[in-house]
Amino acid sequence: MVERYVLSIDQGTTSTRCILFDHRGRLVSVAQREHQQHFPRPGWVEHDALEIWRNLERIVPQALSSAEIAADEVAAIGIANQRETTVLWDPSTGVPLGRAIVWQDTRTAPLVERLRKDPGDEFFLDRCCLPPSTYFSAPRIRWLFDEVPGLEQRARDGELLFGTMETWLIWNLTGGVDGGLHITDATNASRTMLMNIHSLTWDQDLLDFFGVPRAMLPEIHASAENYGAARTILPGVRITAALGDQQAALFGQTCFSPGDAKCTYGTGSFLLLNTGSKMIRSRHGLLSTVAYKIDDQPAVYALEGSIAVTGSLVQWFRDRLGLISSAPEIETLALTVEDNGGCYIVPAFSGLFAPHWRSDARGVIVGLTSYITKGHLARAVLEATGWQTREVVDAMNADSSIGLKELKVDGGMTADNLLMQFIADVLDVPVVRPMVAETVSLGAAYAAGLASGYWPDLKVLRNNWHRAGQWLPDMDPGRREAEYENWQRAVERSIGWIR
Ligand code: G3P
Repeated sequence: MVERYVLSIDQGTTSTRCILFDHRGRLVSVAQREHQQHFPRPGWVEHDALEIWRNLERIVPQALSSAEIAADEVAAIGIANQRETTVLWDPSTGVPLGRAIVWQDTRTAPLVERLRKDPGDEFFLDRCCLPPSTYFSAPRIRWLFDEVPGLEQRARDGELLFGTMETWLIWNLTGGVDGGLHITDATNASRTMLMNIHSLTWDQDLLDFFGVPRAMLPEIHASAENYGAARTILPGVRITAALGDQQAALFGQTCFSPGDAKCTYGTGSFLLLNTGSKMIRSRHGLLSTVAYKIDDQPAVYALEGSIAVTGSLVQWFRDRLGLISSAPEIETLALTVEDNGGCYIVPAFSGLFAPHWRSDARGVIVGLTSYITKGHLARAVLEATGWQTREVVDAMNADSSIGLKELKVDGGMTADNLLMQFIADVLDVPVVRPMVAETVSLGAAYAAGLASGYWPDLKVLRNNWHRAGQWLPDMDPGRREAEYENWQRAVERSIGWIR
């Protein structure tokens, strides 16, 4: 049988998706399942890793059968995943130790505050180019070791494995308790605070500092490489790519040249700028991260501005405040008024990520008067995404000599025209959206297809990119800067709220 499709798995924060792509990068079939979000205490966010694995077992056959595709028509499997989310499991039973601790979880805040003072940010920045934050995996492993008696010793004795979601899924896909592969890729490893960003190997100083034994860590591989064949789902089909979902979106947007940038607007938003084989160390609050590594070629790096809360602010507006009944209604509500009426919302629900990195920040709404309606609040909700993007772009322009000329966007929020126009306005650059909006899945498929020979080179992939929408800047510069100043004053009020 001719191998005609690449199967992509996107294990995201809210759901797991399986998509089949054809040679021209067109979406042929999709199956998706949400998993439960657990919020056991304020600031805690957890997922059940077994539920996620079972969801995958269901959606892969669904995606194949709905397009009448046979397993032997699948050339390769690529995986993209929510990053930093931490799973520990017992390799002899395949059972996770409690729920996975999700990237949005802030339980490690007290530990992180201590790390920022001693040994201080530089210790970490020198090695992994990440500032101490509740966002990353290593503080979570330390937290678990401190909380659960005997866990650290079990990890030392090889009785426990650590992984982010791609590692957990690959282990299960390749056999689980019957010899599953325990591997990760350099993009995911670059978010743990345990990998040396220069050598792309586990950093002994960081392992010693967090007390993490090597025995529990996966092997670090390239993002596009033949890892081995699946044995449980789609037996015999090779798994040839794994990337963090934001790096996958950069790949799916074909941002292969230094200076290319994309922003994915989902629960959070993540702006990545390709900096080539040169790692740029940010001086303005961005992260340096591995963008991708293809087989034995040198790694490509990116600067990243991670914004914790964007789409999830719209969800909060819908589910907690009940001011709309579906997410797209936010645009309709915002269009009932001309402007924000002087109101700004800083959604520091998980503290503030880039460029501030303040876990002591909490959300604020400022500028309230009796004039303010729910329409103004809806505007302020959308504008919060625009202003947070502006902060990140300012930091990026300050860090790299390459000024942003155009922003490629993707993700669910790009369906909101008002927001996309606002982003073009506040950045003062064109915003463009591609035809295939599923860039995370597409990126994982592209990487898998390259490593398996399904696609010959990056040029072919670039030719698959087509523009579907464009927004051009159209805001008076005076107004833009005055409103940005208001936003910055609002941010100042959110910082330091937690004492
Ligand atoms: O770093 C977190 C990011 O990977 C989550 O992305 O799209 O699953 O919310 P998403």
